[in-house]
Amino acid sequence: MTPEQLWWTKRGTSWEKPCILRKELISSGIIPTVAQKLHKEHIENVVQEAIDKSGVSPCELTAIATTIKPGLALSLKVGLEYSLKLIEQYKKPFIPIHHMEAHALTVRMLHMVEFPFLVLLVSGGHSLLAVARGVSDFLLLGQTLDEAPGDTLDKVARRLSLKNHPACHTMSGGEAIEYLAEMGNRMQFELTQPMSQHLDCDFSFAGLRNQVNQIIIKKEREEGFQMGQILPCVNDIAAAVQHTVTAHLAKRTHRAILFCKKEGLLPQSNPALVVSGGVASNEYVRKVLSIVTEANGLSLHCPPPKLCTDNGIMIAWNGIEKLRAGIDVIHNPKGIRYEPKAPLGIDFSEQVKIAALKVPYLKLKT
Ligand code: KG4
Ligand code: ZN
Repeated sequence: MTPEQLWWTKRGTSWEKPCILRKELISSGIIPTVAQKLHKEHIENVVQEAIDKSGVSPCELTAIATTIKPGLALSLKVGLEYSLKLIEQYKKPFIPIHHMEAHALTVRMLHMVEFPFLVLLVSGGHSLLAVARGVSDFLLLGQTLDEAPGDTLDKVARRLSLKNHPACHTMSGGEAIEYLAEMGNRMQFELTQPMSQHLDCDFSFAGLRNQVNQIIIKKEREEGFQMGQILPCVNDIAAAVQHTVTAHLAKRTHRAILFCKKEGLLPQSNPALVVSGGVASNEYVRKVLSIVTEANGLSLHCPPPKLCTDNGIMIAWNGIEKLRAGIDVIHNPKGIRYEPKAPLGIDFSEQVKIAALKVPYLKLKT
């Protein structure tokens, strides 16, 4: 534990113990009422276990930090209500956390990347590019117009019935796709790059998923396979999807770098790109993004996979950052509300659109 000890709770889809990530299985979708029930059932034990392991008593805590936005309303409610009870009981200040800000700043727990830096957040719920200018000061350059890349990978994995694949049944969709893609040949399937005519930093993945679904249907017909059976070409499909998702992320990130350079939004010396969120655990994504950053003179920073996917530590760290900066340390949290929908920072995407920067060709695959 750090000097300022904080309790943590999380929004989201499942409770996770500090350091021990509970994987979201391919077979599981998220049913809000079930998520809420699980949150209610486990919150007490999870917090107690964290306290026991830390060897710190609740009275010794400096503050209590809890995610209040964005996320599943029912889960946010459980976390907030429980925290408010603790705050009342132990008379501690409350620090409300924005889930995406927490993802963006996690890296600074391990390596103090200085503000401002560019950040790409890619998870099951989000896809966005922003300039982090301070602990709670973000400029949003672009975000997904439909679904998030992790969601797309999860849905493709489900459509490919990867829960029936002996090597993949305990993996999340994204992990399963990465695992199979390693053995596949992406050139076997041609997928169209999303939004290649749009010279902005927004993302779109729903069309890509549709393309992949069509391919799967066609292959099932050709092979005489039923839904639920594993297609022989599953590795090639995984490789093609992973590459197309990655190339889309890389292209938008490249444009964001050029935009930041043009507008002087990043420092001249040591500009940095931080990548986080569940999809940032993907080695292929990291490798391709490193090609983009190297070509543009940026350093690339990704937290280790266990801190990229949702975890309680990142919430506690964000609490520490806010405590140190004196931001949002609330002594009377009576009126505090959770917010299922909450944008990140100031929307700067219109300026990115107006700049309409063309991205030069870059060979993305070694
Ligand atoms: O950040 P996160 O844990 O939760 C959200 O806030 O959404 O991200 C979970 C997402 C899931 O969609 C999962 O399939 C994806 O991250 N993911 C991956 C990998 N590991 C997890 N995607 C690609 N490659 C991975 N290795
Ligand atoms: Zn997340």
